Amino acid sequence: MVGTGVFAEILDGDVYKYYGDGEWKKCASGKSVAIINPTTRKTQYKVQACSQEEVNKVMEIAKAAQKSWAKTPLWKRAELLHKAAAILKEHKFPIAECLVKEIAKPAKDSVTEVVRSGDLVSYCAEEGVRILGEGKFLVSDSFPGNERTKYCLTSKIPLGVVLAIPPFNYPVNLAVSKIAPALIAGNSLVLKPPTQGAVSCLHMVHCFHLAGFPKGLINCVTGKGSEIGDFLTMHPGVNCISFTGGDTGIAISKKAGMIPLQMELGGKDACIVLEDADLDLVASNIIKGGFSYSGQRCTAVKVVLVMESVADALVEKVKAKVAKLTVGPPEEDSDITPVVSESSANFIEGLVKDAKEKGATFCQPYKREGNLIWPLLLDHVRPDMRIAWEEPFGPVLPVIRINSVEEGIHHCNASNFGLQGCVFTRDINKAMLISDAMETGTVQINSAPARGPDHFPFQGIKDSGIGSQGITNSINMMTKIKSTVINLPTPTYTTG
Ligand code: G3H
Repeated sequence: MVGTGVFAEILDGDVYKYYGDGEWKKCASGKSVAIINPTTRKTQYKVQACSQEEVNKVMEIAKAAQKSWAKTPLWKRAELLHKAAAILKEHKFPIAECLVKEIAKPAKDSVTEVVRSGDLVSYCAEEGVRILGEGKFLVSDSFPGNERTKYCLTSKIPLGVVLAIPPFNYPVNLAVSKIAPALIAGNSLVLKPPTQGAVSCLHMVHCFHLAGFPKGLINCVTGKGSEIGDFLTMHPGVNCISFTGGDTGIAISKKAGMIPLQMELGGKDACIVLEDADLDLVASNIIKGGFSYSGQRCTAVKVVLVMESVADALVEKVKAKVAKLTVGPPEEDSDITPVVSESSANFIEGLVKDAKEKGATFCQPYKREGNLIWPLLLDHVRPDMRIAWEEPFGPVLPVIRINSVEEGIHHCNASNFGLQGCVFTRDINKAMLISDAMETGTVQINSAPARGPDHFPFQGIKDSGIGSQGITNSINMMTKIKSTVINLPTPTYTTG
């Protein structure tokens, strides 16, 4: 159960504690931050409002803990990660319950998020022992003018303290996708969860605590972004930032110091549909890609670009499937659940109104109750409508009819975003040409965009991000190359 049993020590009265120096703590000010349940729109949980002073302490502790963690054998780091993964999966139900209450994620998807996270942690431990267990050996005589008098040995060393900032939509999975690579690579961690999702994160962190990681290695501070947000991201003790979220990431990257950044900042993923596509396959992928978790995924299909000749048929098929989506509370495992906040629902409504004024065809009537917005397909969307370019992060999907493949590619590439995209066609040659032409980090052929499986590289270009994620890339990103060069008095050759 949430906040009980093994989780009892993370709760003080009705306020969840923060985690520093291997202990669950209350902030000195006694202030808290309320977490609003998107479904009831009432306060569900409260977390500590940490101060800048408390952040400073945690940073110091993380810095000291990292020094001895870097000396901990790789196999031992992996062993602890495997243990944490098992504990996380063992407690999937209480953590999933937090997800249901804090971010209105459907019940089954919430459980899947926790299980997927455990698998990610285990995979990361295994990948880490392989890729960190080997380095490079270079000899000098391959470069012009050199004799074989220098041997260069390279290895990967940790960066120091990693600041991890996950988003509300995957507060557990996108937290462990930062935590596990950071730890296996020998870094320590300061985690700043999103407000919606903070309690899920705290439960997840407790699983790492129960696994027995050294004190101070993992720390988790909660609080108001306005109080500790910039303070954390500009903190001189931070050696790397891994952030997933909205355009706040652009501001963070401008303010951060000279440290490695990993940023994933959303997308406007286009789905290009050619005349020869399997329209049933396209329709089911549009439903899965556009409406799962009510469209609140950075990799959601956010605009359909369909050839005019098949547009009527496709819209009819998608409409029929939209009609079957269940709408309601996450506890009932509804397909469409309330969006995360009232301000998000208002933003989505603004996009819908703009499309209405500019003449889009509504395939369903627009309906909203509180934060719950019924799924909506907008046909005949034109480039002058905001919904053609902005990401609603909600269950509203625009369809733009195109007359050529070039028109589709042009629309995709005119976006500020470049996360993923997809193309549906039976012609693999055309698919490859289109994939090459789309300015996005990934193109899916005949499937909706998606980040997973979690070991695949995941990256955006333009305003969609900096760097590449996925387990291997994240481990590499959270390390530095260190070289040791052995200089020999005379050239040496192994043979001859
Ligand atoms: O919301 C951003 C996530 O990285 C998307 O992940 O494709 O597994 O839903 P997903």
